[in-house]
Amino acid sequence: MTETKKHSRTSIAADRASQHCIMPRCRATFGIRERIYVCSHCGGPLEIEVAPEQPRTPSELRHTWESRASALTGRDHSGVWRYRELLPFEDDAPVVTLFEGNTPLYDAPRCAEYSGLRALSLKHQGCNPTGSFKDTGMTTAVTQAMVLGAKTVVCASTGNTSASLAAYAARAGLQCAIVLPQKQISAAKLAQAMDYGAAIFEIDGNFDHAMRLVQELAEEASIYLVNSINPFRIEGQKTVAFELMQQCGWTVPSNVVVPGGNLGNSSALGKGFEELRSAGLIDRLPRLHIAQAEGAAPLAREFARLQTESKSKPGSPVSDPALPAKIEFVEHPRTLASAIKIGAPISWRKALRAVLRSGGVVLTVSEQEIADAKATIGRDGIGCEPASATTVAAIRKLTASGQITRDESVVAVLTGHILKDTDYVSHYHRGTLSIEAANGEKQPIAASFRNVPISVPATKQSILENLRRRRE
Ligand code: F0G
Repeated sequence: MTETKKHSRTSIAADRASQHCIMPRCRATFGIRERIYVCSHCGGPLEIEVAPEQPRTPSELRHTWESRASALTGRDHSGVWRYRELLPFEDDAPVVTLFEGNTPLYDAPRCAEYSGLRALSLKHQGCNPTGSFKDTGMTTAVTQAMVLGAKTVVCASTGNTSASLAAYAARAGLQCAIVLPQKQISAAKLAQAMDYGAAIFEIDGNFDHAMRLVQELAEEASIYLVNSINPFRIEGQKTVAFELMQQCGWTVPSNVVVPGGNLGNSSALGKGFEELRSAGLIDRLPRLHIAQAEGAAPLAREFARLQTESKSKPGSPVSDPALPAKIEFVEHPRTLASAIKIGAPISWRKALRAVLRSGGVVLTVSEQEIADAKATIGRDGIGCEPASATTVAAIRKLTASGQITRDESVVAVLTGHILKDTDYVSHYHRGTLSIEAANGEKQPIAASFRNVPISVPATKQSILENLRRRRE
């Protein structure tokens, strides 16, 4: 490619993508090469807008994406970069990929029965290269770090973001710094970051403290912050909606349910579905529901307050919802689903907007409900980490209350792999899982679906007898 061509390409991309402040009274616009994380006028959240390089018809886009899906190498093999028409990057961007995405959509009959549905599909984002959905956003965020010439990439994390960033930074040859709440990260997630060679800083504080600290670090010109406050993370994560729709044959499910922590994932899915609708690939939005753990549910609390005040019927979509100026955060979040132990979620505005626009709800589930839903997902032969199981627990509640009916189509997004937190699994099945309540008391979680190894004499007979007893 000649230099002249390169320059004209660069200006085209700068013309077709920009960063916007989402605050209705501001709406400031910034170029995609500006290294900012929030609006420099009002401090509001930023969102990226991309117009395809050449306007494409829905069937052209669908055909292009579907034809790339069979690739076994190169950018087309990535379940993110395959959708590059709607990503804010040049064709010759220095893509950092581990071939993320391409995750399975399973049908889960036991979970369906448990949730009171005829059928239920599970989109397993835990099947990404580092075992969580974070990889779909990390590929774009770390690629943007390369575009901007960053030296160091940084994040705060409850474990999965840091594992993912450490891997992508290693691929890119960038220095990686991660800031974690001490003793609150599962051993498996920490082990990943250690192996991928990140500089790991443990602080005496929770995720929300770590998040504030990395925002301070990102004031340094050479340091690039890749938590989901960074809109380039959201760009990658929104492609999960594209891949899911492709897997559903472009028939929109009635409901999509996701766990909510820092609320980047729900924001990204909402954005993805809206972009598909604007591009004419789908004709309506699925209702997007967010599930939070009872002890870490600032958005669910706000949603309940809005419902009490609102005169509109719960569950009716609002195209341009008025958002509150602030929400009350949870100072001491509590949940064994450590991935979503977050009291001050960064992306609450975008997530709430996505839920209200789609006619979805935000709800809480208890520790017992999470644990039992998780074991049920396991019984379908799928498995996931605790935070992911909030979805199935929430669906069971939504069908029990009539907000979802038995025949509706529902997709639950599982966000992390079962091997991310095996301590939790084995404590649950052994009946030793418990959570410390606010007053310091231990609250046991019942092993409703207990399944433990048993010691047997080393004989064929004793095993066969045991199997027969279990069948009876
Ligand atoms: N599920 C898992 C397995 C997660 O790791 C997270 C977030 C969530 C759900 C919630 O997603 O924050 O986009 O609402 N984990 C982050 C981390 C916070 O640092 O790994 P969210």
